[in-house]
Amino acid sequence: MNKYIKSAVIAIIMVIVFVAGCATVSDSKKKNIQNELTEDTADRLITVGFSQLGAESDWRSANTESMLGTFTPEAGYSLIYKNGQQKQANQITAIRMFIQQEVDYIVLAPSTEDGWDSVLGEAREAGIPVIVVDRKVNASDKNLYSCWVGSDFELEGKKVAAWIKEYADSQGIASEDLHIVNIQGSIGSTAQIGRSRGLANAARTNGWDLMAEVSGDFTETKGREVMGALLKRFDNISIVYCENDNEAIGAIDAIEAAGYKVGKNIKNGEIMVVSFDGVNEKALQYARDGKISCIAECNPHHGPRVDALIKTLENGGTPDKFNYVDEKIYSSVPDVKSIVVDGRQYEIEQP
Ligand code: AHR
Repeated sequence: MNKYIKSAVIAIIMVIVFVAGCATVSDSKKKNIQNELTEDTADRLITVGFSQLGAESDWRSANTESMLGTFTPEAGYSLIYKNGQQKQANQITAIRMFIQQEVDYIVLAPSTEDGWDSVLGEAREAGIPVIVVDRKVNASDKNLYSCWVGSDFELEGKKVAAWIKEYADSQGIASEDLHIVNIQGSIGSTAQIGRSRGLANAARTNGWDLMAEVSGDFTETKGREVMGALLKRFDNISIVYCENDNEAIGAIDAIEAAGYKVGKNIKNGEIMVVSFDGVNEKALQYARDGKISCIAECNPHHGPRVDALIKTLENGGTPDKFNYVDEKIYSSVPDVKSIVVDGRQYEIEQP
């Protein structure tokens, strides 16, 4: 190679090395800036530890989706989600983990009401506010948690009971001819306690025959199993009060498998099914078809409500301790147009 070509090649190589060098410097600079930004953004995110009790029903899945869809980085949150698999012990472990991780807020959807005092005390000592969602906790000191948001489960029970009363009156069915079985939810949960109480009080007041109360654990499988057993025990059931739609779907399977017809025509031997939630599409279709006579709504979309409570706390405010969600009642049975519960009138909505 002559000396001119040699110098030209060296010059070209030097230019390439320089440009590559510049590119490398600017890439790493960019990376640093990006890292700073990510750390900065992470610093500004509110960390929420959410302990969900499990995945027993369609209501629960909708509730989980609402929370996961709300507490996103885009909305300013970093969410740690734990499914308690229906066990309170798992939920307590999750809360302890959230405390160790120094989250900003703990959101608890408790399985049952009792047994939370110690772990809530630990959260309070760590200075982490706890927001209870859906079911309530039976805490010895109300200051162990910041606030609660959810449904008035006893009101839901009263609504269904008022609907039964209106329907029976409209058909001239005597109180003593209403033979009712209650497939209860998970025992000790606020949803079960409230809904069972709503029915039991109405049965006492109206003189209905409340023949049995058995737990179906809010699941379709248990609803089917328990209903099968009840049909073997009693041959005069007129109403099955299911404490959620999944139980109702299972119960209807069992009733039909035993050769009975579900429907409103209890005078002619049909078995009436009433229920709660109004989330599951199959249950809503059953309500349109008259297989489920009445559903009291239980609204699962608590994510935005908890977000609003956190925002109030972040701004130094004090949210109301108990925040009840307004809910509807659905039925396609034309005989009842409205009900009155605790002095308030509720129009019956189409499912
Ligand atoms: O606590 C709410 C209840 O829990 C819903 O009615 C039921 O479907 C769920 O499992």
